[in-house]
Amino acid sequence: MAIERTFSIIKPDATKRNLTGKIISKFEDAGLRIVASKRIQMTKAQAEGFYAVHKERPFYGDLCSFMTSGPVVVQVLEGEDGIAKNREVMGATNPADAAAGTIRAEFAESIEANSVHGSDAPETAAEEIKFFFTDDELVG
Ligand code: CMP
Repeated sequence: MAIERTFSIIKPDATKRNLTGKIISKFEDAGLRIVASKRIQMTKAQAEGFYAVHKERPFYGDLCSFMTSGPVVVQVLEGEDGIAKNREVMGATNPADAAAGTIRAEFAESIEANSVHGSDAPETAAEEIKFFFTDDELVG
C-alpha cells in the first residue's frame, strides 16, 4: 500500500441539507486528509465534461442537471490506500446496497442523489483532480 490522492465531490443533495461537515468528519475519521477543498457552483459544461464517460447512459442528462442544481464541494483527499479507503467510506453507489455506517447508507437519498462521488482508480483520480484543481491549490 502507498499514500494515494483521490478526488471527491460532496454533491448538491448533501450541501443543501447542511451535511458537509458530517461528511468531511467521516473522511477524516477514516484517516483521509483534506489536501484541497473548494465549494463551487458547477457549470453545465463542467458537469457534462466531468461525467463524459457516462454520455451514452440513460441517466446522463438527469445526472448533469442534478450536479448543477446547487453547490458542491470538490476536494482532494490523501491517505494510505486513499482511493480504496474513500470508496469504503462512501459505500456502494446505490444507497440501498451501501453497508451500514457508510456515507451513502447514512445520508444518500437515491442512486442519483447519493451525496458523494469518489474516483475509482489511480488514472481517474489523477484526471479528476486535474479537472478541478491546479497544482498550487493542492496545499497538503
Ligand atoms: P458517481 O460516483 O458520481 O458516478 C456516476 C453517477 O451517476 C453516480 O455516482 C450516481 O450519482 C449517478 N447515477 C444515476 N443513476 C445511476 C445508475 N443507474 N447507475 C450508476 N450511477 C447512476
